[in-house]
Formats: sequence, structure tokens, C-alpha cells
Amino acid sequence: MSRTRQAYQDLDRLWRRGREFLGCECAVLGGAMSWVSERHLVAAISNAGGFGVIACGSMPPDLLAAEIEGAKALTDKPFGVNLITMHPQLDDLIDVCGAAGVGHVVLAGGLPTSAAIKRAKDFGAKVICFAPAPVLAKKLLRAGADALVIEGAEAGGHIGPVSTSVLAQEILPEMGDKVPVFVAGGIGRGEAMLSYLEMGAAGVQLGTRFVCAHECIAHPKFKQAFIRASARDAVVSVQIDPQFPVIPVRAISNAGTERFMEVQRSVIEKFHRGEMDQKAAQLEIEHFWAGALRRAVIDGDVENGSLMAGQSVGMVTAEQSAREIIDDIIAQALDALDARRTHVAAMPGEIQGAL
Ligand SMILES: Cc1cc2nc3c(=O)[nH]c(=O)nc-3n(C[C@H](O)[C@H](O)[C@H](O)COP(=O)(O)O)c2cc1C
Repeated sequence: MSRTRQAYQDLDRLWRRGREFLGCECAVLGGAMSWVSERHLVAAISNAGGFGVIACGSMPPDLLAAEIEGAKALTDKPFGVNLITMHPQLDDLIDVCGAAGVGHVVLAGGLPTSAAIKRAKDFGAKVICFAPAPVLAKKLLRAGADALVIEGAEAGGHIGPVSTSVLAQEILPEMGDKVPVFVAGGIGRGEAMLSYLEMGAAGVQLGTRFVCAHECIAHPKFKQAFIRASARDAVVSVQIDPQFPVIPVRAISNAGTERFMEVQRSVIEKFHRGEMDQKAAQLEIEHFWAGALRRAVIDGDVENGSLMAGQSVGMVTAEQSAREIIDDIIAQALDALDARRTHVAAMPGEIQGAL
């Protein structure tokens, strides 16, 4: 289907602020995914016109510096770095980004302090923060955040309790004109991206959809699990007893998910029998998934590792290049814009006049 120039102009108008903020052709961030978003996927997304983001995860500063240099060798396009705020060497990691001239730092995994935001801004980076609620979005802007990501519970990995569609309604009308807001969680197609842009988003962030990019170094078994899974397979970790909190993580269910339930049950029983104190029991539950994402992504242990994925995994049906993934999403958005115009053109003249 050929697309009209008007559709391109409309899309350009809708995401221009996001594109200008990121310095790329398409306001599509490749959401940082620990172990997955390393130099190859990041560079491929940026080379395809999107905005790749390196996931620092638990990397020490020297490895992050090497990853940034590795990405620079593969692309001359802008890309960002995602840092987890509870990393014990956060300040050093920010300084690594500064020394490497990283243009955009994403602070994730908990509310960043204003000192961390300032440290990144002092070397000239734009700082992007996750806003899990309207009140926190305002707080982050007061603390100096330059842009926000709102990520709903449909997303893969660590999630909050509120859906993308509700967060978007709560935050975009009020904050969308103050700073660029990027919407994440459950976006697999261009029509969904378009609807958030029309609600006032500056762009979108996709994670799950990029896992099966050819350029992604994830183990073939990890990618196969994504291609096989449907939306309902990507479930949130279950907490058995509120006395022993479990961090909500969305992942494709596997044998590890079942075993996690058994471990929780047995540890909690031991606690009730007085064989374990609460702290030790909580630690054993928390340690269950330690290293599990790496085991799945890098080693291909898709039975026992963590298959973090969002509900959009149902829309991942084949391996594609990063460019094909981005092009598909853009084509779907353009077609939706054109289809709407065709619809209006087919209406009786008096209705068109009233529109
Ligand atoms: C395997 C995996 C690992 C992730 N790791 C991180 C991470 O290290 N830091 C982070 O901020 N977000 C992480 N995320 C979230 C993504 O950056 C992105 O916001 C999310 O995937 C968007 O939702 P979607 O999966 O529905 O596209 C991860 C997601 C997945 C699927």
C-alpha cells in the first residue's frame, strides 16, 4: 500500500519533539534490557533511525566504558545509557558516561536522587527518568529530569501495578506539554504507538519487540521462546505471602516459575516452624532469581532462567532486523493515518464539513 505524503507529515509533526530531543529520525527508544541491550542491538536500533539504549545493569564502570566504546565503533548515531539507581557505584557510572560524552542518561530502577540527576546534567547529558505515578512525575521534573518514560504493567521485566493505558491518561494530558514523555509497555504495533503520540506522547519505548532482532545477541533458545509465546504466557511473578514480598517481574512462565512457587512455599513453612528467621527466609526468596536473566539470555537455559518479556511478546512472530522492526511499526502508523483520511473522504460532504 502506498502511503501519502500527508501521513508522513502527520507522523513527523506528532513525534518531532521526541525526535529532536533524542536527535534521531524516529522517536522510538529501544528500551534497555539487561544482557540483551549491549553494543550490537543498541547500534542496530540507532543505525535504523531509532534510539538504542545500553543496559548497564550490574556492570562495573570499566565494563560500561568498554560497552560504550564498542557501541560507538558500530554507530555514529546517538544512543543512550540506562543506569540502575541502586547500583552501588552509580556516581562512578555517571562519570563514565560523562567521560565518554554520552548524550542521554536514563535513570531506572527506583526514583533517582536530585544529586544523581544533577551529576549527569553537569556534564551536559539529558536525563530521562521513569515516572510510575503523576505525583512522582512532578517530583522528577522538580528534581531536574529532562524527559520521562511512563511504563505500564504490560511491560517485560520489573514492573509497576498500573497499566500503560491508565498511566498515559493520567500523565500525558498534564505533563505531555512540559517535557517529552515516552510511553512504554505493551506496544507491539504502530497503531498503538500512534494512539499514544496523539494523546501527547513525544515517542515510545519498546523492549520485547526488539529481542528477536537479528542483531540481538540473545541465545537462539531465548529468541525461540519469544517467538512461541503468546501474550498470556508473559505473567507477573506471584507472591504467596505478603509477609514475604516478591518484586513484580513479568516473564514468560517456565519450569523456573513453578519452582519459585515451591521454594516460596517451603521457605515460608520453615519460617512458621521456627526453622528460619524472617530475614533469612526473605533473602532465600530474593536470591532465587539471582543471575537468572543472564542464564536465559546468554546461556540459553530457558527452563530455569528468567524469560523476562512483556505481553507484546505475542506480536513477536519471527526474527527480523532492527530496521525491519522499526519500518513495520512506522508503516502501521502511516497506514492507520491514511486509512482514517480515506474514511473521512468517503463521508457525505455535510459530515466532512462538520469535522
Ligand atoms: C528482558 C528484559 C530486560 C529488561 N531490563 C531492563 C533494565 O535493565 N533496565 C530497565 O530500565 N528496563 C528494563 N527492561 C524494560 C525495558 O527497558 C522496556 O521499558 C520494556 O521492555 C517496555 O515494555 P515492552 O516489553 O512491553 O516493550 C527490560 C525488559 C525486558 C523484556
